[in-house]
Amino acid sequence: MSGTTSQLSVDGKTVDMAIKTGSIGPSVIDIAKLYAQTGMFTYDPGFTSTASCESEITYIDGDEGVLLHRGYPIEQLAEHGDFLETCYLLLYGELPTAAQKADFDYRVTRHTMVHEQMARFFQGFRRDAHPMAVLVGSIGAMSAFYHDSTDISDPQQRMIASMRLIAKMPTLAAMAYKYTIGQPFVYPLNSLDYTSNFLRMCFAVPAEEYKVNPVLSRALDRIFILHADHEQNASTSTVRLAGSSGANPFACIAAGTACLWGPAHGGANEAALRMLMEIGSVENIPKYIAKAKDKNDPFRLMGFGHRVYKNYDPRAKIMQKTTHEVLNELGIKDDPLLDVAIELERIALSDEYFIEKKLYPNIDFYSGITLKAMGFPTTMFTALFALARTVGWIAQWKEMIEDPSQRIGRPRQLYTGPTLREYTPIGRR
Ligand code: ACO
Repeated sequence: MSGTTSQLSVDGKTVDMAIKTGSIGPSVIDIAKLYAQTGMFTYDPGFTSTASCESEITYIDGDEGVLLHRGYPIEQLAEHGDFLETCYLLLYGELPTAAQKADFDYRVTRHTMVHEQMARFFQGFRRDAHPMAVLVGSIGAMSAFYHDSTDISDPQQRMIASMRLIAKMPTLAAMAYKYTIGQPFVYPLNSLDYTSNFLRMCFAVPAEEYKVNPVLSRALDRIFILHADHEQNASTSTVRLAGSSGANPFACIAAGTACLWGPAHGGANEAALRMLMEIGSVENIPKYIAKAKDKNDPFRLMGFGHRVYKNYDPRAKIMQKTTHEVLNELGIKDDPLLDVAIELERIALSDEYFIEKKLYPNIDFYSGITLKAMGFPTTMFTALFALARTVGWIAQWKEMIEDPSQRIGRPRQLYTGPTLREYTPIGRR
């Protein structure tokens, strides 16, 4: 392999393939012409060695535990800025000036209400529906309400759709929650910031005044920042693949939301909290560690392990700090779940199995405890993740649509089914 090209020998024939280099991170071998040159495809189920696109948005170094958005470390964004600042950065590529930030906040805030008919649309769902089921349906339904921002060839419409999605996700997520508990929907209040507004839409009732707790609002805002984007994960790749066919942005984000729901992805925070509750007390931990290590037992420590991070997830560190801040603010001195989590983390981090496989706590390990303490039911956890990830999805979708070399995504396969055979009429089978 040379500096700029690599060679592959197939059936005695050598083909040259260009090596493309990014600004940081591993280079890639450009195999786009491989089929034309050799008649062969590459095989990489789970895409562990495959870069599906070029992107300028997010960089992860999984071995070092580094996460950068547009070059800025996640720790600095979470410490110094707010969620809408990170949204601006992801969408536009630069941190906003004070005037740009004020204008962006204003525009997002003015898009928070949803079409009144959406409220009636909600009535069609079963009362006990999972909020993620309601979200997938209602985000998809936005394409039926906002026709004036579905023309993806128009940059202005693309931006309006982006603003609408970022602004309306909290409203839809809060409505999904209110619907399942049988309380009236709470309309957004434009004098509040993005996250305080969301807390109010979730927890206020018309019968009494609701005061937003600024510590909880800041903590949740930070949780949103931590979840805002994570390069080409399963749900983002789903959004890109859906968008590559020219589908409208609301349909694409609904597809991403559906993918996020799975327990190996965004559903892990719900699964991690359920696991901590199932473990119940510190004495039971060794039994569960043994189950996680047993090859014949499908049990996995939820909130542990990551496809990309083979080191401590940088978001998990910030999340752990946020958990303590929230429990402190709420006066929760002894949370048995937190005790289980801390001890489980300690044992797992010193266990040979987890060390050897480089399994570290991921962001979902602590987020469940925090969200539960704030009053969110477990079924809402993934909905909150979807709310925060919407900006990442939309930024990646926009980047793809605006790339002149963009084509429909169409993976190939290794066919292992029957070869050609003659059809037998039903009477002779
Ligand atoms: N507990 C116990 N063993 C584990 C765990 C775990 N949580 N995660 C991975 N392993 C083991 C596997 O059994 C496998 O062992 P083997 O090599 O002996 O077969 C090895 O570690 C590698 O695991 P893979 O599943 O091949 O790793 P992959 O990169 O495909 O999966 C994933 C990553 C899905 C995150 C996995 O670690 C997992 O299921 N974790 C629990 C769910 C979770 O927390 N998901 C959240 C992801 S972060 C996010 O979406 C925000």
